[in-house]
Amino acid sequence: MPNAQRKILVTSALPYVNGSPHMGHLVEYIQTDIWVRFQKLCGHDCIYVCASDAHGTPIMLKARELGITPERLTEGFSKEFVDDFSDFGIEFDNFHTTHSPENEAIVGGMYATLRESGDIYTRTIEQSYDEKEGMFLPDRFVRGTCPRCETEDQYGDACENCGATYSPEDLIDPVSVLSGTTPVKRESEHYFFKLSEYEERLRAWISDATLDKNVVAKLDEWFEAGLQDWDISRDAPYFGFQIPGTKDKYFYVWLDAPVGYIASFKHLCDRTDSLSFEDYWGKDSDAEVYHFIGKDIMYFHTLFWPAVLDGAGFRTPTSVFAHGFLTVNGQKMSKSRGTFIKARTYLDHLNPQFLRYYYAAKLGPTIEDIDLNLEDFTARVNSDLVGKLVNIASRCAGFISKRFDGQLANSLPDPALFAEFSGASEIIAGHFECREFSKAMRQVMALADKANRYIDENKPWVMVKDNDRIDEVQLVCTQGLNMFRSLMVYLTPVIPAVSDGARAFLGEDNWRWKDASIPLLGSRINKFLPLLTRVETDHVQAMVLQSQENTAVPIDDKSDDDMISIDDFMKVDLRIARIDKAEPVEDADKLLALTLNVGDTTRNVFAGIKAAYDPETLVGRHVIVVANLAPRKMRFGISEGMVLAAGPGGEDIFLLAPDDGAKPGMRVK
Ligand code: MSP
Ligand code: ZN
Repeated sequence: MPNAQRKILVTSALPYVNGSPHMGHLVEYIQTDIWVRFQKLCGHDCIYVCASDAHGTPIMLKARELGITPERLTEGFSKEFVDDFSDFGIEFDNFHTTHSPENEAIVGGMYATLRESGDIYTRTIEQSYDEKEGMFLPDRFVRGTCPRCETEDQYGDACENCGATYSPEDLIDPVSVLSGTTPVKRESEHYFFKLSEYEERLRAWISDATLDKNVVAKLDEWFEAGLQDWDISRDAPYFGFQIPGTKDKYFYVWLDAPVGYIASFKHLCDRTDSLSFEDYWGKDSDAEVYHFIGKDIMYFHTLFWPAVLDGAGFRTPTSVFAHGFLTVNGQKMSKSRGTFIKARTYLDHLNPQFLRYYYAAKLGPTIEDIDLNLEDFTARVNSDLVGKLVNIASRCAGFISKRFDGQLANSLPDPALFAEFSGASEIIAGHFECREFSKAMRQVMALADKANRYIDENKPWVMVKDNDRIDEVQLVCTQGLNMFRSLMVYLTPVIPAVSDGARAFLGEDNWRWKDASIPLLGSRINKFLPLLTRVETDHVQAMVLQSQENTAVPIDDKSDDDMISIDDFMKVDLRIARIDKAEPVEDADKLLALTLNVGDTTRNVFAGIKAAYDPETLVGRHVIVVANLAPRKMRFGISEGMVLAAGPGGEDIFLLAPDDGAKPGMRVK
């Protein structure tokens, strides 16, 4: 590992503060935090800044809907982000907001430079305008029929059915999402950034930045399609910064958002004497600057951002690190499945260190998506962290405490074995540096297996019974604890809270990366307290259940829920029932009240089959019933299940009749 101290500035994308942080966000902030902690552990001068992204139309509209100012809305959610991040051990050196005086000043300065040089120019464009709301509509706020495949109710920028992309003006029968009225076309003057002139400079930057090959492939596609000038202005009403010299024009949120990286750093500089702004952002800066982002916002970070920086006389980022998206149990996060899990809901049930480890075990340097499979999560954490890692310490600690008054031996009985642990330092560091976290975790766990094997073979619990071998017990356990200690040093960036506990147990003040290679000998350790307890399946289930409860399903979230998984299907308890009684319900045209015999229970169920069946003919008949449907209170009483039938309705409803041999209470498979 290079010893020279590096000067590094790291950012994560600035989260939109119009909602709560969730498991998807955490992929990024945990990934970045691990990398930053690793750099700090190696002794580098590494600064991690972030901020909330507070501007834009969705935030303005949400605040309006709630009847509060956008400032209040964003302050509330910012606080949630800050609190949740902190509880997950994500440690920023500064967390600011894009709605700050620092940001406004820097954006204004950049704008002045770019306007002066001609890189920003104005042009009149035509856009959809909602006359009732008195505002121009972003593409996503217009819906209508796709001009290509004629699927109804599509967004103004792309069709979800055929994938066509277009502008809202092309839609058939366009409607404003805000007012339901038909938008009109209206002209307005907009400000454009001359991205088209930056192709050469961007290509040069890209080759210096050594981006991931999938990112480069994406960039090649974009270059191929040709770089278009970028519209950086929006008309009032808008929540953002007013463009200097105009009355009703604002900077588009995506212009001032990345500038928020710089503004957050500036805010930190203003309070820290030893930090110089120019050292990091000046044209001649020799600091390294890295942005961690999700793959959805690559265009902004690899094209617009370096071009704007370059044009405005700032340095460009050293590199941009993009990660993939999170799926839960193999699918997009879904509110109805309970897999749209908020950071806070996770914290209510599970230890944050577990998620940090699990994400680390899954993360690589590419834009491949990562899956949080909840069963695998439970198994992996229990097997790796509890079963392998902590086990090493708990198998050795007691002997040292009880038989040797906490005193470690003065030498290692197997220095060659320890050398394997210390020798892994460079490989593991290399993996962390390249964001190959999953490889680093695999390496650490392979060593943990080795350590456990050593203890199995030496059996201190047998030796301890033999008075002649008592010194050996101290040696073997000192060896075991030292292997544990090296692994804990390597895992410090990933599970810092567990590492703190281990360090306190070993009686040490602080750890540097290189301590993993220097054994701890002759010193006194403290009483061993359990560092982690197992993940319990019911806690995971409770988290999923809570995620299902506290969220309503928004209409446009339905599409990914058209399918149910086999697990969902297995939850439906279908049973044979015998109809013991069937009666019309007073005042209800369509309903019959059925008394069902479902084996050992009787259920009252209302069924909308009156037009199709004469109640008398139903008595004694076998039907299929959903037996585990939560009871529903209806106007006529409580319904305790649902009878299955097919057909379009009215007289044409057909009860599903099981073949002969069916008995009430039988399961239907
Ligand atoms: N405000 C912009 C970023 C501006 S940066 C100058 C934004 N905000 S966001 O809240 O939508 O997302 C913040 C980060 O979290 C992004 O990098 C995004 O890719 C990431 N993720 C949000 N949902 C995610 C998943 N489901 N999975 C993985 N990362 C995700 O974009
Ligand atoms: Zn279409």
